[in-house]
Amino acid sequence: MAVDVPGSWKPSQDNLTKAEAVLEATKSSGNLYRNGLGMIASENIVSPMVQKVVCSDLHGRYAEGLPGKRYYQGCDDFDTIESLGIDLAKKVFKANFANIQSTSGTVSNIAALKALAKPGDKITAVSTADGGHISHARMGAVGLRDLDLSTYPWDIDRMEPDIDGACDLIREINPKVCLIGQSVFLFPTPLEEISAAAHEVGATVMYDGAHVLGLIAGGQFQDPLREGADIMTGSSHKTFPGPQGGFLLSSSEDNAIHRKLNNAIFPGVCSSYHLHHVAGKVVALAEFEEYGEQYARDVVANARHLGESLAAEGFDVLAEGRNYTASHQVLTRHGEIDSGAGAKAAKLLEDSGIITNMNMLPGDTKALSPSGLRLGVQELTRVGMGKNEMAEVARFFARILLHGENPLNVKKDVSQLKSNFHIIRYCFNEEEQSGYIL
Ligand SMILES: Cc1ncc(COP(=O)(O)O)c(C=O)c1O
Repeated sequence: MAVDVPGSWKPSQDNLTKAEAVLEATKSSGNLYRNGLGMIASENIVSPMVQKVVCSDLHGRYAEGLPGKRYYQGCDDFDTIESLGIDLAKKVFKANFANIQSTSGTVSNIAALKALAKPGDKITAVSTADGGHISHARMGAVGLRDLDLSTYPWDIDRMEPDIDGACDLIREINPKVCLIGQSVFLFPTPLEEISAAAHEVGATVMYDGAHVLGLIAGGQFQDPLREGADIMTGSSHKTFPGPQGGFLLSSSEDNAIHRKLNNAIFPGVCSSYHLHHVAGKVVALAEFEEYGEQYARDVVANARHLGESLAAEGFDVLAEGRNYTASHQVLTRHGEIDSGAGAKAAKLLEDSGIITNMNMLPGDTKALSPSGLRLGVQELTRVGMGKNEMAEVARFFARILLHGENPLNVKKDVSQLKSNFHIIRYCFNEEEQSGYIL
């Protein structure tokens, strides 16, 4: 006899109400981005075909191991998906090794550090105050692995590591791993110099491309695996326009290193690795092969346009001397160091439907009351915005933050602009997509 099916029970009103509240909030969040401007530098939107696989039955399945070497039955179709994905990732990132199982950029970093270093080993990285990620710090993955961290000196004008100082530091302390890459990432790192110093002392160069992976794959930023990086980690959902997840890539041709990296992911730091997201990454990789170069070019051009337009409106945009940016990011300062002016600006913008984040800029010491904003244009680019729209966005910023206009007035104009940009571009079956997921 069949079991009593829970659906036939009358659910408690309390639990039903909670579940419905989740649905409502989910729809409301979708509407916020549908009607507003998503400008968080670490976010993106996924294509219709990626949405389909992410919402598929795969979300509940397991496939520990690698294609053809599984601990569970039922994985033949997923083997097809993952094998395709490994090949595509190697092609898109021009890597000799790819693992596409990692569930986030942080997980990729934890796995890479597990494979590359032992507790007590020395590591060099960019400090969080200069834009390094928390996983590069003692409070994150570096501390989890109990590594001995030294941070590079920073060139504030160029917004990159001070190259001579970084190379001297590496030669002086002989680290096991030289970690490169930031969350605040405006310009490519002069990697060849750092890699030469690192290799001289026998260190591995690990490049964290979480933010800029889509620009790298599209050939519009730098090419770390050819500029000396041995390992590249990253998120699959920032400038790379896939679902949330991570990549672990290497230029090494050594099978022993490949095994070490694979083992660091499973059984190292993942068991289930979110098959629906892996399938989404594979679709995103296939779409990237087709449209990625143009997308990455348009993102970088839009970031430049936004930087120029904000400066023309009167904002203090960082790195003026280097044309503001060579990535998807633009940084603006809104008041005195540590004044919290960035937090206030982010809140006012949110009231108008423009979603950004406050950010520490050089000199700031308080993460919760910084003076800056970090802006990203990758999502606006994905829905087809270009130079004119960047100028319009800069005008919205000026109306709210420089001329004191009520953000609720500006909200109507923000939503009017956005109503013309609901179709996700640079992907297969654009025409199927008439809006954001709600
Ligand atoms: C440089 C860098 N590395 C790693 C990460 C972590 O990525 P994820 O959020 O995918 O864990 C971030 C996130 O913003 C980042 O900026």
